[in-house]
Amino acid sequence: MRLAFFGDIVGRAGRDAFITHLPGLRRKLELDFVVADAENVAGGFGITEKIAADLFDAGADCVTLGNHAWDQREAMTYIEREPRLLRPLNYPRLSRAPGKGAWLYDAAAGRVLVICLLGHRGMDALDDPFSAVDQALEDCPLGVGADAVIIEMHAEYTSEKMAMGHFCDGRASLVVGAHTHIPTADAQVLPGGTAYQTDAGACADYDSVIGMMKEEPVRRFATRLPGERNKPAEGPATVCGVFVETDPKTGLALRVEPIRIGGRLMGHVPER
Ligand SMILES: [Fe+2]
Ligand SMILES: [Fe+2]
Repeated sequence: MRLAFFGDIVGRAGRDAFITHLPGLRRKLELDFVVADAENVAGGFGITEKIAADLFDAGADCVTLGNHAWDQREAMTYIEREPRLLRPLNYPRLSRAPGKGAWLYDAAAGRVLVICLLGHRGMDALDDPFSAVDQALEDCPLGVGADAVIIEMHAEYTSEKMAMGHFCDGRASLVVGAHTHIPTADAQVLPGGTAYQTDAGACADYDSVIGMMKEEPVRRFATRLPGERNKPAEGPATVCGVFVETDPKTGLALRVEPIRIGGRLMGHVPER
């Protein structure tokens, strides 16, 4: 199968770029299944039903969320009605978090399991993501229950994301990091056959601080004084993601390449 994962869509600029570029990328790369993280799509904070509909219309098959999942409270009810929207899997059992953190999608090209995890380190931690993913992969193994498995590790630490890649190596088609909004240059197929990239990057204006207008965060870092709420940067955005081609027999990766198109970052679109 031919899969793509796109990193956090930030604000209107990220959304416009994603909606503009996705149809062409779907055609050129003959994508069978597309996942996009959109935890920052609504003014930088969370997601609304209306915006999610635009992302699905543009060609996203699954939209994921991270630590900003519930910044727009309507997501807590909307997610119960929308199986294409996922929040992190590893909420504590007692939280009875709405929606799902993993789902098996029936795509034309095969069954795709998507798992969204929230990291433990440097953020408001949920339950252990390693135990959670282990259970999910046991419940629906690659090559048995699913023809492809896409795991998003939404986390702050590169070390924790890399550890997750190796932990799932051979059991997933792709493990990809999100949340830090900066694409890393380490796309690789791990020894066990799982495609991996530490951070997919964001769909955002990169004349910014991780997608937000630069003035306020720069001032805050420089002065250590509180100020205004961050707002998404509004210039032309770069759409950042990862493309994976899997072996139809095993569901493991044959190749992985970054995707970067539009905006300020150096472009890279894989050859078909
Ligand atoms: Fe994010
Ligand atoms: Fe995040």
